[in-house]
Formats: sequence, structure tokens, C-alpha cells
Amino acid sequence: MPALSARTRYRRFPPRRRLAGEGTAGWDTLREGDAYDLMSTLTPNSVDLILTSPPYWGHRTYDQQHNWTIIKEFAADPSSPPPYDAYRRKGGVLGLEPYPEWYVHHLVEILDLAKSSLKADGSMWINVGDTYFARWSSIRENGRQGLADHARARRRTPMGGYRQEKQLLLIPARFAIAMQDRRWILRNDLIWYKPNVPPRPENDRLRLAHEHFFHFVKRPTEGRARYYYNLTQVEHGATDVIICNVRPGDNGHSATFPPSVIRPRILTSSRPGGLVLDPFCGTGRALTVALDCGRRALGFEISKTFAAAARQALTSHSSINGSPTE
Ligand SMILES: C[S@@+](CC[C@H](N)C(=O)[O-])C[C@H]1O[C@@H](n2cnc3c(N)ncnc32)[C@H](O)[C@@H]1O
Repeated sequence: MPALSARTRYRRFPPRRRLAGEGTAGWDTLREGDAYDLMSTLTPNSVDLILTSPPYWGHRTYDQQHNWTIIKEFAADPSSPPPYDAYRRKGGVLGLEPYPEWYVHHLVEILDLAKSSLKADGSMWINVGDTYFARWSSIRENGRQGLADHARARRRTPMGGYRQEKQLLLIPARFAIAMQDRRWILRNDLIWYKPNVPPRPENDRLRLAHEHFFHFVKRPTEGRARYYYNLTQVEHGATDVIICNVRPGDNGHSATFPPSVIRPRILTSSRPGGLVLDPFCGTGRALTVALDCGRRALGFEISKTFAAAARQALTSHSSINGSPTE
């Protein structure tokens, strides 16, 4: 079929009227706000794939104003985290919880809200990185943790139990186990090896050069989990280790998904035309890759700056590829 001119495309597929909260891209691909609130705007049983990289624990502020003394607002007990809503009402930001346990609890709580919107044969891919414990840790606005490239906040994190100086916290494992405890079935712990991670000042350990990408599916009320999966679209060798260099992010965002890491996840775990949701979409990389793969896309983003960048990416993308049909 010959390529349609922009004018003909506009006539045949006119953009529909914008909905409240809709992005400037002209169709409903971007909703600005807290994923915790926006999950309830999803139609039940409408999402084929949730693919995301939430803020990691203790890494970055992502433009958000955090209450650094929030621990005083609650009983200082890592094992009884306040619900996310109570925590944020006191000025708490996801990823900046005083204890890793609180972070895991909040992240699982938010992702669990997506369960009813995820189709029974849908998938959820979550990319989470780890953190070393330090009683005095530095949190970057947006840059890489521990490197002198951006403004940072210092905060004291209470020690105790496994929270000891120099400890690798195993946050991804704690998160995955908490998800299993909430009835999610873990199908893969994909290791993303990043050969080009920058040098670090420490001389008594190896550099962290991998991240986890967990594949979860819904546990049915009876029988074994059944979900859509197209094995022909995985990387060569079909193993659970992939290699991909990290690159500086787009539009000031330092944690942008490399397309080659997410494209195979989208192609294997959603049908053509299916809806891909990224509830922590940053500058919208997962959304544009999903559209490129012939899927529909929807992103949530709390930061005005990144939401604007995602809208911009979607607008440029649509002017190149045309608006996707719904
Ligand atoms: C690790 S980054 C995601 C980067 C993204 N994968 C990309 O390629 O650009 C996490 C994003 O989640 C956003 N975020 C943090 N807390 C949020 C919340 N409660 N609701 C929605 N977005 C949130 C941050 O502003 C940040 O852009």
C-alpha cells in the first residue's frame, strides 16, 4: 500500500476530541500524576502488558519534593510500613522511603492496583535495580548515584538487622518475593548485563553491572497460569541473560530504557494491537517502542518535566509515524 500523505492520513483518521488528562499527542497515551491514583482510571481487563522501571530505592528524587524527616511521622518500625497513601500525605515520595521494606511494600501496593486492569493472559515486566546500604547516603536529583554530576541530598538511613554499612540490599529479590506473596507468578528473572557501566571509586568490590527484569503473570483461581507469549520474538539463544550497554538518557532523564532491552519484551508478551502500559514512563521510551511494534501505549508519569518530555517524544513520534488507530 502506498504511503499516505499527512493530509490524507488526517482526513481518513482525524484525531478524536481529547479526554480529560490526555496528552498533547492527540490520543490517550500519557496521563500525568501519581500511578497510585491513575491505576483506578484504567478499564478493567483492558491492558495486555505492563512494562516499567519504577524509581529504584534511594537513588534519585526525580524532581519530587520529599519530606526527609518523614520517619518521625510514623512508628519507626521497618516491618510495619504505612500504606502508600498515608506515607505520601506526609510528604513521602516513592523510592525515598527511609527503609527498603517500606519501598517494597509501596511498590507492590501500587502494582497490585493494576491487577484488575491486566487481562487474564497478560504479563507484567518490571525492571528494578539494587542499592548498597549506607547510613549516610546521597540521593541525586537525576544523575547517577554516587557520582559527582548532579545536585544531591544527604540523608540518614537507620541501621539495624541486615541494614548494615556496605551491605548489598538485594532489593530486587525482596521485591520479587513480595510480589509472589501477593499471588503473582514469577516466570523469569531476566538479567540485563551492562558491560559499559562507569567506573566507581570503591576498591573492595566489583562494580554492579546488571539489573533485573522480572516477568510476572497472574495466578488463576484454578489451574496453571496461561498467558500470551510469542517465543519467536526473543533474543537469539532464548536465555535469561541479555547484554546491552547503558546510554545517557533522553531529555535530562538518566534512566531511559534502551529500546533493544524492551522491544523483545513487548513483542513476546503482547499481541499486535494490544495495550502496553508503563505506569512510571519517564520520557516515554516504552511508549514509543510499543507504538513502533504496532501496539497501543499508555503511560503515567508524576514529574511535570518528564511528562512534558514524554508528550514531546510522542508528538514527534506521531508526526513521523501517524497517529495509531485505537
Ligand atoms: C526509572 S524512571 C523510568 C524511566 C523510563 N523507563 C524511561 O525510559 O524514560 C522512573 C520514573 O517514574 C516516575 N515516578 C516516580 N514516582 C512516580 C509515581 N508515584 N507515579 C508515576 N510516576 C512516578 C519518575 O518521575 C521517573 O520518571
